[in-house]
Amino acid sequence: MLLRLSSLALLASTLHSCAGFEYNTFDGPGFPSCHNVIAVHNATSVDEMVSLVKDAASTGQRVRAAGKGHMWYDTQCSDAPTVLIRTEDVNGIYDFDLEAGHVTIEAGVTFFQLAEYLHQRGASVNYALVNWNISLGGSIAMGAHRSSIREDSMVASAAMALDIIDGTGTIRTVERDESNDDWLAASTSLGLLGIIARIKLKIYPDTKVYSMQKILSEDEVLNGDIYGLIAPYATANLWWWPYMRKFHQRYYDVVPTNQSDQEGFQSTFSVTEFEGNTARTLLDSGKYLPTSNMAAETLFFGLWSLPNFHDKKTDKAILKWPVYGWNYDVLIGGLYPNQKPEWDYGLHGYTLELAFPVTMANDMLKRVRSLFDAELKKGIVMTSTYRSGINIKFGKAYNDLLGQVHNSTHGGADWSKGAIMFDFPSYAPTIGDKKRFNENFYINLANTLIDEFPCRPHWTKNTRDVFTRAAKNFDPQNISRFKAVREKFDPKGIFRSVVGEIIGVY
Ligand SMILES: Cc1cc2nc3c(=O)[nH]c(=O)nc-3n(C[C@H](O)[C@H](O)[C@H](O)COP(=O)(O)OP(=O)(O)OC[C@H]3O[C@@H](n4cnc5c(N)ncnc54)[C@H](O)[C@@H]3O)c2cc1C
Ligand SMILES: *[C@@H]1O[C@H](CO)[C@@H](O)[C@H](O)[C@H]1NC(C)=O
Ligand SMILES: *[C@@H]1O[C@H](CO)[C@@H](O)[C@H](O)[C@H]1NC(C)=O
Ligand SMILES: *[C@@H]1O[C@H](CO)[C@@H](O)[C@H](O)[C@H]1NC(C)=O
Ligand SMILES: *[C@@H]1O[C@H](CO)[C@@H](O)[C@H](O)[C@H]1NC(C)=O
Ligand SMILES: *[C@@H]1O[C@H](CO)[C@@H](O)[C@H](O)[C@H]1NC(C)=O
Repeated sequence: MLLRLSSLALLASTLHSCAGFEYNTFDGPGFPSCHNVIAVHNATSVDEMVSLVKDAASTGQRVRAAGKGHMWYDTQCSDAPTVLIRTEDVNGIYDFDLEAGHVTIEAGVTFFQLAEYLHQRGASVNYALVNWNISLGGSIAMGAHRSSIREDSMVASAAMALDIIDGTGTIRTVERDESNDDWLAASTSLGLLGIIARIKLKIYPDTKVYSMQKILSEDEVLNGDIYGLIAPYATANLWWWPYMRKFHQRYYDVVPTNQSDQEGFQSTFSVTEFEGNTARTLLDSGKYLPTSNMAAETLFFGLWSLPNFHDKKTDKAILKWPVYGWNYDVLIGGLYPNQKPEWDYGLHGYTLELAFPVTMANDMLKRVRSLFDAELKKGIVMTSTYRSGINIKFGKAYNDLLGQVHNSTHGGADWSKGAIMFDFPSYAPTIGDKKRFNENFYINLANTLIDEFPCRPHWTKNTRDVFTRAAKNFDPQNISRFKAVREKFDPKGIFRSVVGEIIGVY
């Protein structure tokens, strides 16, 4: 019997490219997150996830959780046949206790669901936020974060305990404890320890916040006090417009509840059908004509200078900074009524996100500027092709083994003051070979930054090539501590992914 199973496994791996089907990211067909999926289960309870993992373990099947698919590249699974367990319908919320400061949620709860539930009860999760239609389980697994130097803004920083379904289908509860490697590994686990089934989260009384935005010249940022532009605020970031040679500085902080009656509601991705179609036509022509990209950046910069907020009650556009409203509505918001997210109009993107010690912020941005300028010298104008420019985010140091902002001093870098993230989304043309205008520029940019700086990749916003090249920047001691925990939770490696393979924990 054993013999038959292993020859079956051999057969399956020989056939691997045709054994399964592609599973896609939120961008849909043409944007696979896994290449070799053999079954997708819509689990409806934690118990069902447990029994699905037990089934997989008993047959030696690979298995991965699937949240809302809000990742960019084919790095969710390994390339061997894999079973997916979707968490969307495992979304209970219970044990709410604002006085004690916690609530428990199940894996598939999205930021939307959580924010609405908490707001109705006068609570929030502060700044441990990512985006709307994304699961908390998927965010914590992959080390997702907002942007802040002053406050904790890793989603995992809100977790007090995690229930993880391990490689034998047993639930292990891991409590926050920085002296325990089980916790330090679980805090950013890449899904390699198992499926995060439940999360006990810290909560706080709801607050009103303001949002403010300024326009800065490139010189004010590249030669300025970048830390000082960000650190004073609860959450803040920069958006870079390299063709315009300008930045937007966006920042947020708490205001007294009676400061304003305004109920602002942010949307980063809502577009009307007309806007969506116009942008797609312009950006597709930018695959061949840099003048289209220059026009697009100019247009996007102008639009992005206005508040991307509506009044929640009337859905009317808000035209003046600062904007006021409730915590989640202002920090994240969602979709405007009667609009769709940009990807529903065929506007898709590629991206690259690398984190650097914030002490290197000026050097890093100047290096990127020099790469833009090198193209200019050849007569090639490069731009940002994304509606909100190049996203520059920040992170306060956070103690775990694989998070993007852990404060290891490997390679002599000082991460203790926090990190700056260079997040460069770019338009994926719908035409021709689907490569970007001057594709090689993007590859060279990534390689240069990885080779010249001790940078760390975001775990869902980079290609396999970027992970492979950046692997030399990981702290080998911490990788081996993570691997020891992985071997304990998942001795047979059924939750393996290509990311886990590249960082060397198999
Ligand atoms: C429009 C958009 C905006 C974004 N904004 C930000 C941002 O501001 N900051 C940031 O850091 N990231 C951001 N992201 C990235 C996003 O937070 C991560 O990719 C996140 O992992 C996606 O979660 P998901 O629920 O969609 O999971 P999926 O995309 O379905 O899965 C992502 C990975 O997590 C694993 N996984 C999912 N659920 C679980 C679970 N319960 N247990 C174990 N493993 C699991 C999957 O196997 C997969 O490897 C953004 C993404 C999009 C598309
Ligand atoms: C699982 O849910 C998704 C999303 O709702 C749906 O598209 C798919 O058909 C469902 N699969 C099954 C087997 O029910
Ligand atoms: C969230 O995702 C689900 C599919 O998983 C989709 O049906 C729904 O429209 C999305 N909501 C928004 C506001 O994007
Ligand atoms: C808000 O309330 C505080 C105390 O309750 C009061 O001192 C302050 O004047 C009020 N501010 C406004 C703008 O009404
Ligand atoms: C930074 O590293 C030290 C160990 O060198 C650790 O004790 C501390 O908790 C870390 N701080 C953060 C914020 O990660
Ligand atoms: C490993 O991770 C810890 C955080 O847990 C960090 O403080 C430390 O600097 C890292 N490096 C080493 C070699 O332990």
